[in-house]
Amino acid sequence: MDLLIKNALINNRNQNLLIHKGLIEYIGTETPAAREVFDAGGLLLIPAVIDPHTHIRDLGQAEKEDWLSASKAARKGGVAVVFDMPNTKPPTIDLQTLELKRQAAKKATVHARFNIAATAHNYDKVQEILKTKPADVTALKIFFAGSNDKEFLTDKDLIKKYFELSLKYDIPVMIHTEWQPCVEKHQKLFEHPTIFDHNKIRHPECALKGTEIAAQIAAETGNKVVIAHTSVAGELEIIKSYKKKARLYCEVTPHHLFLNKEILEKAGNFGKVNPPLRSKKDNEALWQGIMDGTVDYIGTDHAPHTLEEKLGPYPSAPSGFPGLETNLRLLLNEVYKENLDLERLIELTSSKAAEIFGLEGFGKIKEGAVAALTLIDPEKKWKIKAEDFETKAKYSPYEGMQGYGDVVKIFI
Ligand code: DOR
Ligand code: ZN
Repeated sequence: MDLLIKNALINNRNQNLLIHKGLIEYIGTETPAAREVFDAGGLLLIPAVIDPHTHIRDLGQAEKEDWLSASKAARKGGVAVVFDMPNTKPPTIDLQTLELKRQAAKKATVHARFNIAATAHNYDKVQEILKTKPADVTALKIFFAGSNDKEFLTDKDLIKKYFELSLKYDIPVMIHTEWQPCVEKHQKLFEHPTIFDHNKIRHPECALKGTEIAAQIAAETGNKVVIAHTSVAGELEIIKSYKKKARLYCEVTPHHLFLNKEILEKAGNFGKVNPPLRSKKDNEALWQGIMDGTVDYIGTDHAPHTLEEKLGPYPSAPSGFPGLETNLRLLLNEVYKENLDLERLIELTSSKAAEIFGLEGFGKIKEGAVAALTLIDPEKKWKIKAEDFETKAKYSPYEGMQGYGDVVKIFI
């Protein structure tokens, strides 16, 4: 069906845009005929967000989130593409489980992609998946430390083998770099830990350690390696120095940019996440990384859990909280406050991820590109109220925060 979006601010100019069969067919000041016309009222049209880091949980944990609720949350947050993380029930570890995921994702109303788990036990299965050259598989995901579950990989030879496989099939590896032996060492020091110890147990030095290891191996193998949810100032230094000799990319989450451990007084377990919320200094270093180009893109790490679980005692409350509906709002507010250029926001939320993960046609507004577009009102006021979320996880460490700049509509 043809759709003409009239009167939108596109690439700095007031223009019309024609969508035909999911692609952008025309951009300009003419008014081509279309079956449907939408007047954008002069609002801002940007490439829809690509989120390479989303935990969807359909199938075995659908009470936490399914593809329908996740899609609604994504659309509300201006997100058109989500990469489903593999640490689910069942985990995405072989062709069979990938196929189950594909079936479940038929309900999605956003574009679904899959990151598959590269664990201590499934090297051959990962190879089998990659041999099929799956267009919907975006990355391998390795956990260097257990996070909610106990699956982790710290065998450097096997990590290297996965990196070599990644090079062969030209598919990035994303790493959760917190290093398990380091976490265990710190864990032992706390007999009755509380949420305020979370950042001491999953100590900043554990993320540094794993990031250094990942960067070193990446420099040897030459594959694409993404440091997921970079959270510590020192990690940025490592990444910056290795970018010269490795194909190393830096993902940052909105919560490591906008929140730090001070919020835990108020948020309690709603702010429990791995890697933990760090310090104000780390926030500042991450913002510096945004400004100087060390940070490549923003991934939400949308990680829904039930309210009951999150309200439980610290040791048993799972880590993670929803992020799809808050990410773009928070970033648009920085544009509103003139702390962030709109061009940089677009790079961070869509175009760079499209490039790294090879999503052809995504992340740009030009003729021939995929029509995945988000309409923004840069001055619309918002206030975060988790009870209004579309995700099933109706709580948020951002509760009550306010700002300007919001999603009005998404075109997918
Ligand atoms: O906080 C987190 N939650 N960190 C992870 O690494 C996993 C995620 C989840 O799946 O809930
Ligand atoms: Zn995650």
